[in-house]
Amino acid sequence: MAISNFASAWLQGLRQYDLATYIHSIRTAKYFFDFARYVGICSSEIKLLHLSASLHDIGKMAIPLSILRKKGALSTEEYCQIKKHPEIAFAWMTLLRDSDMVTEIAYLHHERWDGSGYPLGLKGNAIPRFVRLFSVIDVWDAMLNDRPYRDGIPEGKLLAYFIQASGSLFDPEIVDAFLKWRRKSTAESISTAPRFVVEQTVALYVVNEF
Ligand SMILES: [Fe+2]
Repeated sequence: MAISNFASAWLQGLRQYDLATYIHSIRTAKYFFDFARYVGICSSEIKLLHLSASLHDIGKMAIPLSILRKKGALSTEEYCQIKKHPEIAFAWMTLLRDSDMVTEIAYLHHERWDGSGYPLGLKGNAIPRFVRLFSVIDVWDAMLNDRPYRDGIPEGKLLAYFIQASGSLFDPEIVDAFLKWRRKSTAESISTAPRFVVEQTVALYVVNEF
């Protein structure tokens, strides 16, 4: 059974379970689509990359809402539970035996260039390139926008963070491309729109897309 057949149902399930994770997923999919095109990913892969990105946090449907929406710092036990979401998604997707690309983004998007990520602690080029591309977009979107435990961080500060984390947490070549892409697209970027417009846009986008 193809994962694409499940995508709409999974996304609607995620939307009902936790709207914030759903919006983050749809927004990162849109940004990833644009960034992947910018770095020259071939068009035959773009649609699948977009689908993969939209499903990257689907494993969070198995994490209690009391943890996902917690306003204070997570306990060690709660953080351990959060860290299981890539493996949960991997287990669900493996049962479907579909695209490696979709499964690998869900499974590996918390791996980091220096090996400090999870669940496998992969390092450098052992992490597939499209996952390294996605992880930059995922972290950028997560930090740019409000979370239950903190306000969103202004983009100027965030770009400084990525410069600092280049070569440690993130592939330096990809960070270079990301910074160029942000500079180029800032003027017309959706991120400059008021938050409620962004959320309405992604909601409409997913309805039309799936
Ligand atoms: Fe995640």
